[in-house]
Amino acid sequence: MINDLWYKNAVIYCLSVATFIDANGDGIGDFQGLMQRLDYLQGMGVTAIWLMPFQPSPMRDDGYDISDYYGVDPRYGTLGDFVEFTHGCRQRGMRVLIDLVVNHTSEQHPWFQAARSDPESKYRDWYIWSKKKPKDAAKGMVFPGVQKSTWNHDSVAHAWYFHRFYEFQPDLNTSNPEVQAEILKIMGFWIQLGVSGFRMDAVPFIIAAKGAGAKIQEHYNMLRTFREFLTWREGEAIILAEANVLPNTDMKYFGAFGERLQMMFNFEVNQHLFYAMATSDSRPLVKALRATKSRPATSQWGQFLRNHDELDLGRLEPKQRQAVFAAFGPDPNMQLYNRGIRRRLSPMFQGDRRRLELAYSLMMTLPGTPVLRYGDEIGMGDNLALPERNCARTPMQWSTEPNAGFTISDKPILPVISEGPYGFQHINVADQRRDPHSLLNWMERIIRMRKEVPEIGWGDFSFVSAGRPDVLAMRYTWRNNSVFCVHNLCPEPREIHFSIDHGEERRVLVNLLSDDHSESDARGRHSILLEPYGYRWYRVGGLDYLLKRTPV
Ligand code: GLC
Ligand code: CA
Repeated sequence: MINDLWYKNAVIYCLSVATFIDANGDGIGDFQGLMQRLDYLQGMGVTAIWLMPFQPSPMRDDGYDISDYYGVDPRYGTLGDFVEFTHGCRQRGMRVLIDLVVNHTSEQHPWFQAARSDPESKYRDWYIWSKKKPKDAAKGMVFPGVQKSTWNHDSVAHAWYFHRFYEFQPDLNTSNPEVQAEILKIMGFWIQLGVSGFRMDAVPFIIAAKGAGAKIQEHYNMLRTFREFLTWREGEAIILAEANVLPNTDMKYFGAFGERLQMMFNFEVNQHLFYAMATSDSRPLVKALRATKSRPATSQWGQFLRNHDELDLGRLEPKQRQAVFAAFGPDPNMQLYNRGIRRRLSPMFQGDRRRLELAYSLMMTLPGTPVLRYGDEIGMGDNLALPERNCARTPMQWSTEPNAGFTISDKPILPVISEGPYGFQHINVADQRRDPHSLLNWMERIIRMRKEVPEIGWGDFSFVSAGRPDVLAMRYTWRNNSVFCVHNLCPEPREIHFSIDHGEERRVLVNLLSDDHSESDARGRHSILLEPYGYRWYRVGGLDYLLKRTPV
């Protein structure tokens, strides 16, 4: 069997160049700095880096407002530095994904400037205009509470333009064939510079019919066009979609035969996972896992805990959402856009190491490929004094040096967390590297093990009844090998009894993380005592999967 689908068993780490590390001392992270930290990432076991936008931008939405798709913002370095960076990643066996933000541009983009100032310009039709104020101008905002409308009047164009996101992000007319061709050109450009694919921003909005009074309609075929182009140019390249959609449309994004996008973030599981951790009730999570189970063999979910945005709980029932708010973000200032929590992971758990490990163990063992957020490997905190999502985007905490070793400037791009239990004096890479029991070293070990359990990325999963909703027990099978993972969601110890159907091998469960293995009784029943928030990973029968591989 050939294992070319690298993303099926990858470990993705997302970071923003701006806040990772600053090499030239101007207070802004840069590619020179990032290159000096590639060994850190490789040492942790990361196999792919996802970079948030680094292209020239007025930076009014943390770079998600791009003014030139073919460049590097000079604050971060040059295109030359970028190529050195992708090369440095390749030397270490790591791939690079970059954000592809093509639902909209910055209002400063020369395309928009040409479009608004000259009705005859070919760029006029690259955006969405209306002579009159559309009736639904006050509907469909992505950032309710901050964003007032989805249409703004432009005094130069004497017309209204559509913006799904902030008003300074005019939507591209993505059904215009010229715009589509430009999107391909952008992908082709970065592929040529060494990236292995894209995290595609806001996919449902890119493929939606846009315009005043447009009927709700998605152009899914666009996804096939993007994907085909990409794989013609570079066979291993992928698109990882940001598409927070209902499970019954997932297959439209993957394509019935896997001919559309290779990966999607599993937002459905993400929200129900937090519900499960808030209430110790695994049942809605099980439902979400079942609802997102079927996918083509070549497709893959991205499983994550927190990302650079708010923890969006919009798909939970109101009561469920309130339960998550109450547990992890009770203060209104911790909440955002009437639907989510803007905190980092560690403070949501009051820094409780048991809960952090449980959460990461769950993320690593849910069907898919784990996506980590920078700083979460050391349990970084947030700064709720910063607006909106910036609270969870503060600079990486490297050491106890001034400004956490992020910069020698006294004006970091965002303030470094320097007070309280999450201050860099307490939470930093240098200290955790020296401590064998630190979260960082735990993370490195769990990542190493995750990569040695390809059953999770490739295999089929089923639920094993542990007899109680506060314990989640799952089993993966692949190539006649079997792995069993169990998680106690509650603050009490739990004893569970169960049996596994796997021939004679079912009698022995070999613990992959410590040495308390389990042997069944004569009838094949196992009894396991889980400590509060405890978790176990076992290989059924215990042999390494390679040894049992059926010859093909
Ligand atoms: C996506 C990004 C978010 C950004 C928005 C507009 O949702 O994740 O950070 O603000 O798109 O580009
Ligand atoms: Ca710098």
